[in-house]
Amino acid sequence: MNDKVLHIEDHAAVRVIRIHRPDKLNALNHATVAALREAVEAFAASATARVAVITGSGDKAFVAGADIGEIRALDARGAADFAAAGQALMRRIETLDKPVIAAINGYALGGGLELALACPLRIAAGNARLGLPEITLGIIPGFGGTQRLTRAIGPGRALEMMSSGRPIDAEKALDYGLIQRLENDRPVLDAALDWAAELASRAPLALGYILHATRAAGDLSLEAGLDLETRLFALACTTEDMREGTGAFLEKRQPHFTGR
Ligand code: COA
Repeated sequence: MNDKVLHIEDHAAVRVIRIHRPDKLNALNHATVAALREAVEAFAASATARVAVITGSGDKAFVAGADIGEIRALDARGAADFAAAGQALMRRIETLDKPVIAAINGYALGGGLELALACPLRIAAGNARLGLPEITLGIIPGFGGTQRLTRAIGPGRALEMMSSGRPIDAEKALDYGLIQRLENDRPVLDAALDWAAELASRAPLALGYILHATRAAGDLSLEAGLDLETRLFALACTTEDMREGTGAFLEKRQPHFTGR
């Protein structure tokens, strides 16, 4: 299944998952959602892949949304099942203990923006357009967009985007904090791969704890968040990577982290 709608390749410790439905601007149909879930589970289980980059085929679209042809055929039960499958995929990506970067190479609309929002890190090409245009189809976002966009950029801006359906450009997305990086000078995947390689060189367990703590910061009281941080800090101090990182500093050499 993956061979058809996804192209997957490893660059050392970085796994690139490329959505490949070029004739549909990489729109997410049922099969693509299922294939992505499979690919994400394989990444989670991989002993060698430390960071994933999700991107779209071609230079026009990351993902132009859920597949509108399939949506049109849904009844209430089918719609709820489709939303549940999409939401489960997004939540799985969001809660991985390894980082996932969305490399947004063009349109990230509807389910495409929702997929990007589930990735903890986002970089976009200068031609990227990000939006939730579901309102123009008479529906609403169903893969977590109402919740994650609001958390990412605040209710006013999120409501403006969702109610108008109009996408924003990459500059504005950067200004909103919807993406962390904007790449104007070279293919966005190249920049994402450099970013991913840097992350792959970091201590994997500590990176996982940072992802966990940062994610929890959105949901927990400050007191509970600080308590979580204390526990994760203590855990980090029990790792071989802590011995390696502190030792390398004191010995004035580069650390080599193993994730133990
Ligand atoms: N679902 C299904 N097919 C889609 C799609 C989607 N979300 N987005 C694009 N496509 C298909 C088009 O139907 C077209 O197929 P065709 O060649 O068989 O007619 C093909 O991809 C190319 O798209 P096209 O609209 O011709 O490209 P464009 O450059 O003129 O416009 C967009 C690009 C992204 C602005 C436009 O395709 C669009 O608005 N897509 C829908 C976005 C959307 O509403 N997403 C939310 C869905 S819930």
